[in-house]
Amino acid sequence: MKKKKILITGGAGYIGSHMVSYLKEKGMQPVVFDNLSTGFSDLLTDDIELIEGDLQNINDIKRVFEKYSIDKIMHFAASSIVSESVANPLDYYRNNVLGCINLLNEAIKNSIKHFIFSSTAAVYGEPEKIPIKEDSHLMPSSPYGRSKLMMEYILSDLSRIHGFSYAALRYFNASGAEPNGIIGEKHAKETHLIPLILKTAIGDLEKISIYGNDYPTMDGTCIRDYIHVVDICEAHYLVLKAMESGDPGGVFNLGNNKGYSVKEIIDAAQKITGKEIPSEICERRLGDPAKLIADYEKINRSFGWKPKYNLENIIETAWNFTLKEHEKNVLNRKKEK
Ligand code: UFG
Repeated sequence: MKKKKILITGGAGYIGSHMVSYLKEKGMQPVVFDNLSTGFSDLLTDDIELIEGDLQNINDIKRVFEKYSIDKIMHFAASSIVSESVANPLDYYRNNVLGCINLLNEAIKNSIKHFIFSSTAAVYGEPEKIPIKEDSHLMPSSPYGRSKLMMEYILSDLSRIHGFSYAALRYFNASGAEPNGIIGEKHAKETHLIPLILKTAIGDLEKISIYGNDYPTMDGTCIRDYIHVVDICEAHYLVLKAMESGDPGGVFNLGNNKGYSVKEIIDAAQKITGKEIPSEICERRLGDPAKLIADYEKINRSFGWKPKYNLENIIETAWNFTLKEHEKNVLNRKKEK
């Protein structure tokens, strides 16, 4: 009998690669499936089996299940940029909904037992009440948020009839990096606030754009709840262990229960890096809610999870990674000359 494995889709991406590293620390040997469209194979160590494939190609998924006996999946592979989803909705529904259905179809045929789904705070849209609880009204304001919510409903229907447990973890703003600085947030086309601020601090960007200063917040800029990527990984692990012991799973917020404005993040980054970070006020970005802050009481009560990293730790670890990546890029450029 082949030993049962855990499959990490999107394991070469930002959150997925941290999850792989976290599971390795726990003595597990995950298998990664990734099309490397936004992921990087160098975020994985050499001992990790990477199967390059696309969720929209059923044969690629079949190959995984033929080669390995998989009984649990953490599904990170998805498109996740709110503004991009507004511009290209079909790409988002194809990748996030159709791709996930293809995966589930094969998973069910292979008697999958547990499925953890990367959901998002974007399922709430503009919230009525802060902090946001899981039973708040679900009114996503972007195709991205809608694609994730659709999958939550689909998972609920499928798990009931096909006898597997699932959890949908609604991440607020994933940020930070592994404290050793080896892996971190890396995107070919960066759109996220903290990495862009740090690229400005290091001099790769001239200034950071602040998208709107006329929101109904104390300084007019948007407020977000930043949650460290390693805290996100820990939550996945705890939920998985609970489901393996018979817990039915469910839907849970992953946030810090603390909100920071764009200006506050820039100020904190200036203090931590010791660098001046020039900024300019720009137009609002489409689809941005004014304020998102999580209530994480449900996952705390269910599994004892609470975040260990605060904003300072988030910026420090992200800065550490930015410095190391910068050094690597400078060396590579020298070698090319
Ligand atoms: N922002 C700027 N300037 C920038 C980039 C961002 O002012 O150059 C602002 C945004 O307007 C927003 C905040 O910083 O108010 C955070 O923006 P990010 O792009 O870093 O993150 P988002 O809040 O748009 O989205 C992220 C993930 C989504 C997830 C969401 C959950 O990308 O997948 O968090 O809250 F759904």
